[in-house]
Amino acid sequence: MAHHPLIKEIILTQDQIISRTKELATDISNYYANNDSTVILLGILKGCIPFLAQFIMHLTIECEIDFMAIASFNGATEATSAPQIKMDLNQDITNRDILIIEDIIESGSSLLMLRDYLFLKGARSVKMVTLLDKFAGRKVDLNADWTGFKVPQQFLVGYGLDYKEQLRNLPYVAIADISKLK
Ligand code: IMP
Ligand code: MG
Repeated sequence: MAHHPLIKEIILTQDQIISRTKELATDISNYYANNDSTVILLGILKGCIPFLAQFIMHLTIECEIDFMAIASFNGATEATSAPQIKMDLNQDITNRDILIIEDIIESGSSLLMLRDYLFLKGARSVKMVTLLDKFAGRKVDLNADWTGFKVPQQFLVGYGLDYKEQLRNLPYVAIADISKLK
């Protein structure tokens, strides 16, 4: 496979990601199979897009889709400030079951804040699925209910993950060549 010039190493291919995504969708469909209300899939923009697009096509439960945007990185490779809500939900989630769909968890701060916020807004349950887990970077006590892959503590790009808003379109997850990023 031809590498993008800013890529050091591909760690997950598109085939690996798709087959793991199917497994997650099966597990999660089983978990909600007898749920008494329609689940809201809450995609966290923008990194969730490729994962969410694959994931929903393999889910067999009734669901709705909504989105929020949270910023924790200011365009660089490390979180610089407390996570902020950049785009909110525009529906009432009182008594609703929410499944957050994330690209990657690192410190856990974004999702910890988001979970508290959703409960404050009246959610009945909040579960989380993340494609990637940079577990070595955890700073708060938060883990996803379902995880696609555990990944090394390196700056990753592709399959939704960006460097300064670019490289989200790469069809694989790769370690970026930090020395070439500017
Ligand atoms: P945290 O768990 O609050 O530290 O932040 C997770 C968010 O940081 C993710 O949703 C991504 O938007 C971003 N992020 C974390 N690690 C990476 C990475 O390696 N590449 C690109 N974005 C990342
Ligand atoms: Mg994100």
